[in-house]
Amino acid sequence: MTVYELIGEPGFARLVSAFYRRVPDDPILGPMYPQQDFAGAELRLREFLVFRFGGPPRYLEQRGHPALRMRHAPFAITQAARNRWLELMDEALAEAGLPPEAEQSLRAFFAEAASFLINRSE
Ligand code: HEM
Repeated sequence: MTVYELIGEPGFARLVSAFYRRVPDDPILGPMYPQQDFAGAELRLREFLVFRFGGPPRYLEQRGHPALRMRHAPFAITQAARNRWLELMDEALAEAGLPPEAEQSLRAFFAEAASFLINRSE
């Protein structure tokens, strides 16, 4: 079963909304995001995850190939930023209360992707 089959659109919506509720006030991550468009950022991450975990590929249709390293190049993703992103996502996962198999797949993917996106040493 895919994560999408396990949690559906509402599961992704709960997770990503719990994550973005934490971002704006975070001293490391908050300032990096488009201040007028947190809702847009939330939508892009949600659609990406839906596509990546077996749901409809709306992200691809609207945004094209994810090219996540390239799209994150403008943002200073240090080890500290990576750690904070994962901390907030951990809290969001706890809040979303997803089935354990889904949570485990998502957690593993986030850890790997976040490390892969580090693009600054300081
Ligand atoms: C490691 C720490 C990370 C930082 C600091 C970070 C920061 C950002 C920022 C500032 C944006 C722009 C917001 C927007 O307007 O869309 C963004 C976009 C995005 N991020 Fe991250 N991100 C991180 C990790 C991740 C991870 C692990 C994923 C994958 C699960 C991810 C997926 C995305 C996606 C899909 C977008 C939208 C790309 C687009 O279509 O333009 N990010 N990120």
